Formats: sequence, structure tokens, C-alpha cells
Amino acid sequence: MVKLLASAFVATLAAIAAATPVLPRENTNSTPTAGSGVSPTDSASIKALQTALLLSAGFSDRQNVLLPNPPDATNITFQFINNTVNAPTGGTIALTTLNNFPALIGTNVGMAIGFVNPCGLNVPHNHPRANEFLTVISGTLIGGLILEVNPGGAGDVVGQPKPVNGPLPQVNATLENFKGMLFPQGETHFQFNPTCKPALFAAAFDSSDPGRTQIARNFFSAYPDEEVLIAAVGGNLETLDPARIEQFREQIPTAFAVQIESCVKRCGIPHAKV
Ligand SMILES: *[C@@H]1O[C@H](CO)[C@@H](O)[C@H](O)[C@H]1NC(C)=O
Ligand SMILES: *[C@@H]1O[C@H](CO)[C@@H](O)[C@H](O)[C@H]1NC(C)=O
Ligand SMILES: *[C@@H]1O[C@H](CO)[C@@H](O)[C@H](O)[C@H]1NC(C)=O
Repeated sequence: MVKLLASAFVATLAAIAAATPVLPRENTNSTPTAGSGVSPTDSASIKALQTALLLSAGFSDRQNVLLPNPPDATNITFQFINNTVNAPTGGTIALTTLNNFPALIGTNVGMAIGFVNPCGLNVPHNHPRANEFLTVISGTLIGGLILEVNPGGAGDVVGQPKPVNGPLPQVNATLENFKGMLFPQGETHFQFNPTCKPALFAAAFDSSDPGRTQIARNFFSAYPDEEVLIAAVGGNLETLDPARIEQFREQIPTAFAVQIESCVKRCGIPHAKV
């Protein structure tokens, strides 16, 4: 009986301990720094968290993985860094996906903060797995969208619209003062900062793995047979001969953004490649 009571007492103590919330840690450092109180940034911890989340099928299981010590919100908090860089880089992007922020697993959201330098161009690209809603926080950007219009795309099929050669329609908008623009999933788009001041945007994705395909780099990677490319552009050998393709293929930027030369000259930006 005494033994039974004693074990019941221990069990009660354990239950109280489990129910007592862990108090937030004392904030001894008033300057927030990346890596303190935010989701882990080292690859081993990220991998461990991803593995645990992917082995948890339901939402509440994943919540238990992420928040084992409430009210500590560390695992669901991400620190974006002000990633402003100097010209001639056109800008940088800070992106959260399930690759660097495991808490996004199972949520279908992702986020980007873009730091666009004066004259910076976020080169034409698309996101194969996500719609994007981009909002300009400061500065000015032109958002451009190439429309998905494909009459005759299946060839000259009897009873179908005839193929139409030439460029696709483009729409664009000047984005400033928190104006946002939608870039539908898979459609080619770009942003350009036409001003001599930096611009900042935040963009939401409806995927935690949006992906990014850069149009120029992708197209010119039909490799090594240049004839594939030449046929694809309508056999225009004068403007696109194999030797020229060979020359510039290696120069196609991997970067998120480059600078547009006419703008660089207008703004008198030093150190830019003009
Ligand atoms: C973050 O999640 C991991 C895996 O469940 C856990 O071990 C760790 O304690 C969590 N971090 C915090 C601060 O709760
Ligand atoms: C980011 O850093 C740059 C360079 O230090 C600074 O000029 C800019 O104001 C910062 N932007 C924000 C939004 O804090
Ligand atoms: C935006 O669209 C207008 C009208 O089609 C065009 O004149 C202009 O050059 C476009 N701007 C950009 C940056 O593509």
C-alpha cells in the first residue's frame, strides 16, 4: 500500500513536471543574431529535423517534433538576413524552403526577401512548383510577365488554330508603395529596378519547394549539339551560330540578378561592368 502510494506520488510529480511550461530563456543579448532562438542553420541539425518531420505523417506529430518544449518557438522561427551586396552584383535573395527551414515541411508555403540593387534585374525565370505573390516593400521594381499563349503549339493540326511565330505577349507593372504582383506557377517573369536606389521585396510562394528555372541558362543548356538550339530558334544561323553559342554559353549568369547596362550608365554606378 505504501509502495503504491509512493509510486502514485512520483507519477503525480512527473505529471506536474511535464505540464509545467518551460519558461522562455533569459534574453541576455539584446542584439538579435542569426542562429540564436531561430531554426537551426547547421546542416546536421537541419537534416535531423527534416528526417523526424518526414517520419511524422500527421500535423500533431510534426508539431510535437517542432515544439517539444512549448512555449519555445525556436524551431518555427526563421531569421532572414539583410543580404545587401555591392555592385556589380544586381542583388541577392534570401529564400526559405523546406531545405533550410524544415518547419515548412507539410505546409505548402515558402518566402523570399529580395535585395535588388540599383539597375538590378532578377533575370527571367519561373518557378515550376509555385505561384508567387511578390510585394515591394521599399524602392521601385518593374514586374514583367510573359504570358502563356500557345496557339498552334501542337503543330499545324487540322481544325486547330494555325501556329503563330514570334514573341509572346508581355505585361508589366510598376511596383512601389507595397504594391504586389502575381506571377503564376510556371510562367516566365522578371523584376527590374529601373531606379538608382535599392529596392526590397517580399514574395510568398504556395510551395515549400518552389524551385527556380532560369530561362536563358536553361535554354542554352540544350547541349552539346548546337543544332538543337538553332532549330529551336527557327534556324536563324546568322544571329545564333554555333561558335557564338559556345562563346557565351559559359557566361550566362547563375546569379539571381545582374545589372542592366543602360541604367548603370544613367545612374553613374561605379565599378559596374559596362
Ligand atoms: C527542435 O526540434 C528538435 C527535434 O524535435 C528538438 O530536439 C529540439 O529540442 C527542438 N528545439 C527547441 C528549442 O524546442
Ligand atoms: C540593409 O543593409 C544595407 C547596407 O548595410 C543598408 O543600407 C540598408 O538600409 C539595410 N536595409 C534594411 C531594410 O535594413
Ligand atoms: C512594359 O510594357 C510596356 C508596354 O508593352 C513596354 O513598352 C515596356 O518596354 C515594358 N517594360 C519592360 C521593362 O519590359
